[in-house]
Amino acid sequence: MTAPIQLSAGGSLYERIGPEALEALVTRFYALVARDPDLAPIFPDDLTLTAEKQLAFLTGFLGGPPLYHQHFGPPRLRARHLPHAITPTRGQAWLACMARALQDTPQIGEAEARELHAALSRVAAHMVNTPEGKAGQGGKAGQLFSID
Ligand code: HEM
Repeated sequence: MTAPIQLSAGGSLYERIGPEALEALVTRFYALVARDPDLAPIFPDDLTLTAEKQLAFLTGFLGGPPLYHQHFGPPRLRARHLPHAITPTRGQAWLACMARALQDTPQIGEAEARELHAALSRVAAHMVNTPEGKAGQGGKAGQLFSID
């Protein structure tokens, strides 16, 4: 039996999306985060540095140059998120902003958008560190599930 021919879409997700489209996505994403009632309270008012760090992280995460590591050190993302109370609702809100930002960035093809959203869903689930209703007044996350 002959194996079916696999037409590769070619290259890493980073190469398929490209740096300009990725930057456009990150800019749109944080514009939505800033207006989201669940997310805005835990983010700084000025999202410039946050967006720079996210762009650097996603570049490496998707197979491009490891910019985050080079500029900011090991990501240790779960540990870096522990000071923020990330409830399941905030995890869903983050992913909803990302889905919307992907829809609003037509330079990113449907297949790439789906793949990226699926990968980010897995990372987002790992960032949730606070049970619903325990978020208090923006207080520290409980260390209940700390694994790193
Ligand atoms: C689950 C929902 C998430 C929430 C509510 C959330 C929230 C936050 C907050 C409040 C910050 C700090 C912003 C600042 O002070 O600049 C942050 C930083 C960051 N987040 Fe998230 N995040 C989530 C998921 C993710 C995911 C899925 C990723 C990666 C794909 C990610 C990547 C980052 C990066 C790279 C930073 C900058 C870390 C640093 O300080 O160097 N986050 N996030």
